Amino acid sequence: MAGVRRTWRGCRALLLAALFLCVPVQSDRDLRAEAGKAAAPKSAYVLKIPFGLEDVAGYIPADNPLTAEKVELGKLLFFDMRLSFNNTVSCGSCHLPHLAWTDGRQFGLGIHGQPASRNSQTIVNRVYSTEQLWDGKRPSLESQAKNPLTKPNRMGMPSAEALVAKLNAIPGYREWFQKVFGTDVTIDGVAKAIAAFERTILSGNSPADRYDMGGEENAISDSAKRGLALFQGKARCTRCHSGFNFSDEKFHNLGIDWDKDQVDVGRYLASKDPEDIGAFKTPTLREISLTAPYMHDGRFLTLKEVIDFYDKGGIQNPHLSNLIIPLNLTDQEKADLVEYMRSLNGEGLQMAPPVEFPR
Ligand code: HEC
Ligand code: HEC
Repeated sequence: MAGVRRTWRGCRALLLAALFLCVPVQSDRDLRAEAGKAAAPKSAYVLKIPFGLEDVAGYIPADNPLTAEKVELGKLLFFDMRLSFNNTVSCGSCHLPHLAWTDGRQFGLGIHGQPASRNSQTIVNRVYSTEQLWDGKRPSLESQAKNPLTKPNRMGMPSAEALVAKLNAIPGYREWFQKVFGTDVTIDGVAKAIAAFERTILSGNSPADRYDMGGEENAISDSAKRGLALFQGKARCTRCHSGFNFSDEKFHNLGIDWDKDQVDVGRYLASKDPEDIGAFKTPTLREISLTAPYMHDGRFLTLKEVIDFYDKGGIQNPHLSNLIIPLNLTDQEKADLVEYMRSLNGEGLQMAPPVEFPR
């Protein structure tokens, strides 16, 4: 069983290797990574990749390389409430480090306590995805980062221009932007710095990684070992939660919402493809025991409830994925699956918010 994921990683590595050979941009990046190892340029950001994850080099966009100063600036912006209209909400209000960068609520709360329409997602391992959000509507972290700033039920700034003017009035931020981008504050700079910071928030080296790929026999319990076998076999979870980040990066309809009066059509909003009605992106399962409640509408409080939902075959609707079928799991099997998911918490994501912000 453990071999399944190893094989997949092998394929992925080969594919990436092939890319490095064929695409000049990629080989440049490779060279830069090599150069970085030999003599790190002054501001190069050296990212420690936890065991079990792929190197990030091939995933960093060429026009927004990681530098130490940019990542530091991005962290300040991420946690600074002054980026919201009334200085009460930051990105970090709905993405809290100690809850694996979620907020523990069914729906995130923006300025004036206005709820978002979906559950706040974790932002660990975002570096490995291009499409962001439950419906994948934002094609990059840079484009995603601009969105909450001016959304009325997130941070509520009237416009990007208003935010830029507000930040340019803070001398400390103007200095930071001059240092990092050689310009005053710009909205693209804000987005690039935040995205660079997000790309450094990783989760790997979990007990499951150490068992499955590290061969550390005692890293997880017997129940979790049985859970892993079920996850890859009878329970069919790897049909979608596949690879080192537990996501096929695709969109599927599980029927969440179809028992309510109003249905969120999800991916269809972005693609307008009828095949995508009610489909949502397969989320990573890393840190999953810390990110309750679950699903895009935050309906399940526990992992046990999630398993019961899959066991019944999701919720019937005309667009239900044909990968979702009743599973006939026993109570012990359900408990084993939960135990396995609890072994997916790792390292690379823990950090404290800044204590001081630019003045
Ligand atoms: C009011 C709460 C709230 C605030 C403030 C907020 N977010 Fe989010 N975040 C959410 C919700 C809710 C979602 C899912 C939205 C959706 O799919 O429509 C989300 C999704 C995301 C995602 C996508 C994750 C994935 O797996 O695809 C990223 C990245 C992200 N937020 C970063 C940010 C950044 C950067 C900021 C600040 C500029 C921010 N968020 C501010 C609630 C919030
Ligand atoms: C057909 C693809 C598919 C299969 C098979 C599948 N999942 Fe999912 N999973 C998804 C999608 C898509 C979502 C988000 C659905 C939504 O919110 O509408 C999800 C959500 C979840 C969540 C909640 C994540 C969060 O951040 O809220 C958990 C936990 C989960 N799946 C575990 C499992 C387990 C365990 C199995 C096997 C029993 C499984 N999944 C099988 C696609 C799949």
